[in-house]
Amino acid sequence: MIEIINETMFHLYNEKISYVMTVLPNQQLGHVYFGPALGKIESFDQIYLDKKVNKSAGTVKFFDGNNSFTLADRYQELPIYGTTDFREGALTIFEEETPLYTDFKLHSFRCYMGKVRNLDKPASFAGENESQSIEFELVDAERELKIDMTYTIFRGLGTIARKQKISNIGDEARRIERFMSGVLELKNRDFEWVHLSGAWLKERHIKATTVSQGTMSVGSLKGASGHQHNPFVALKEKSTSNDHGYIYGANLIYSGNFLAQVEMDEWNNLRLMIGMHPEHFSWKLDPGETFESPESIFTFSNLGMNGLIQESAQFVEKHIIPPHWQERERPIVFNNWEATYFDFDEEKLLSLAKESRSLGMECFVLDDGWFGNRNSDRSSLGDWTANNAKFPKGIGHFAQEIHALDLKLGIWFEPEMVSPDSKMYQEHPEWVVKHPYNRISIGRGQYVLDFANPIVVESIFQAMKEIILETNLDYIKWDMNRNITEAYSAYLAENGIAQTEFYHRYMLGVYKLYQKILSAFPNILIEGCAGGGGRYDLGILFYSPQIWPSDDSDAVERLTIQSGTLLGYPMSSFSNHVSASPNHQVDRHTSLTFRQHTAMFGPLGYELDLFSLSTEEKQKIKNHIEFYKQHRQLLTFGTFYQLNSVEKQNEVIWAVHDSDKQEILIGFYKILAEANPASEEFFHIPFLDMTRVYQVNGERISGRILKNLGLRKPYQFNAVNHGTAQIQGDFQSFIYHIQVVENKE
Ligand code: DGJ
Repeated sequence: MIEIINETMFHLYNEKISYVMTVLPNQQLGHVYFGPALGKIESFDQIYLDKKVNKSAGTVKFFDGNNSFTLADRYQELPIYGTTDFREGALTIFEEETPLYTDFKLHSFRCYMGKVRNLDKPASFAGENESQSIEFELVDAERELKIDMTYTIFRGLGTIARKQKISNIGDEARRIERFMSGVLELKNRDFEWVHLSGAWLKERHIKATTVSQGTMSVGSLKGASGHQHNPFVALKEKSTSNDHGYIYGANLIYSGNFLAQVEMDEWNNLRLMIGMHPEHFSWKLDPGETFESPESIFTFSNLGMNGLIQESAQFVEKHIIPPHWQERERPIVFNNWEATYFDFDEEKLLSLAKESRSLGMECFVLDDGWFGNRNSDRSSLGDWTANNAKFPKGIGHFAQEIHALDLKLGIWFEPEMVSPDSKMYQEHPEWVVKHPYNRISIGRGQYVLDFANPIVVESIFQAMKEIILETNLDYIKWDMNRNITEAYSAYLAENGIAQTEFYHRYMLGVYKLYQKILSAFPNILIEGCAGGGGRYDLGILFYSPQIWPSDDSDAVERLTIQSGTLLGYPMSSFSNHVSASPNHQVDRHTSLTFRQHTAMFGPLGYELDLFSLSTEEKQKIKNHIEFYKQHRQLLTFGTFYQLNSVEKQNEVIWAVHDSDKQEILIGFYKILAEANPASEEFFHIPFLDMTRVYQVNGERISGRILKNLGLRKPYQFNAVNHGTAQIQGDFQSFIYHIQVVENKE
């Protein structure tokens, strides 16, 4: 998996990809290639020749009498601005006010198998036989700095993970101003810059823009990865379709401020970089200290969008999600938020719980409003003890009742926040993120707690621990409903730590709380949430295997959100809830069937007033849950395919198959009905086999027919047969269940 030639060429490869690096004439680590597997490389000259210098006016040559060399046209692993390369660099270091134009030379390297999981900080992990890594030690002797850069390749996957840390090996303090986690340099192949963007209630829509000379970027400065942009980005050839063409994905295992950008120079070279956002960041590195940047991920597929979807899913499933939850079925949840909001007591909740149990649900999640005096979103965050009026017999009693119904119990927390109207704030106003000047912004009536302060983290942990123990809790919904403003920590000030370290130290505090909870309660299921999908990232998924994708529970919007999210994150990471009609966010009316069909791709849940349902609707829910339970493995961990172009949003077709393609489920969704459409009668399913015979919803159809014609769409919109059409009108859906009935013709 790692081939080393003459100690100067490094080739990480498996059957899918090759990643090649070399040592440049100035001893810096250079990049050669990332793309389809090259196999064992016999002659390196074939893929890399020490190039001549580009001759544009303004190209500056470099170093020590070797005037034939410039970094301007070199592919580098760790480019640094300030010498002969004028593009943005990955690392900027100062000594007081003086920039250090660092010059890291390869000093040594070592290879090792496996990658240990450590709850301290989110990062990928792998068993001994699942990965191989190469760790380079690069030293800038003059400026007394050392960098360790580790590249990991995983068995059977198109992903390379990169981890790096920088150490001060001298006697003078240094300041890191920018330390991008990942850099990928490559030739432009008519690429589009793909990102997942949107806003609250419409997160992670796929956007694609042609790359041209200059810089394009997305990022977040909100103290969280954010609703507006996601750290997952990609470069895809313009011609890339669902199943063909080059696509490179990049992601960051981090939940705070980030920047992802691509810069194209005058020679059609691209530099893709991803890392912590350099705005408002700088980190003091005292002698002997080390700073580690979040890990970055690069993925390649030449099998188009579906190739990337599947690579991303497999990587996250195996190497990010907590091991306990890998391939483990998730409970079908009933969440009381959209059913009751703040208006509930124990009695009401228990009757909802009984009803949900009788319909087949498995876990009752008690959302916001159970603690302090919380009867609206203006109060009590921080006071994590049960509301006596709502739970007169105590939360422990409520938990016993839930467990006695053979339901698991989940409870909502918003650990990082405090309401001004709370005991915690009265006792500890200094625990709030607030600048010493008077102005303090407020969001959703709440302040952000100073998670850079370990005492705050410990205090929240103790409060949560008591509730977890008292309720024998199975599940936590971890919410986070506002972003950070006036970033300032009294704790950092007292300890002489620069405020420019706040955002990152805040994130480390959040990860510390996850670590404490999961160390004490390793099997608790944590559902991530940040006002919906404001923190849908690999940092959170490292601790919590599923995330509430959006506060918009409308099934039509969820089709777009899920299609976007799937590019970088697995189906098993979605919490999908069937909610009421008309929908509470957009007031749209959709049928229960359509809502259930949309929510079933991923972990299923319900979030609506069960007592306002008719007997017929309850029966439909019961039937759907039974069906879901029979197919839960496939619908959580199956191999996912988009069968329609993700740009053609009026018809969405999702498919999943099991590992040997014996069983397939397809969800067909028609958003708006069209008058007299010129639509195709059939759609194609690329993974079917000509030599097999299938049963499609009970009907035998040969693989040859399905392959050559496709599968007939579930409707005919024309006046003649409107009476027999299976799909009529807006917001329609149809599920195909396909099984192999004969393996050979
Ligand atoms: C925002 C979440 O996304 C909702 O699901 C719900 O938990 C509310 N917060 C509760 O305040």
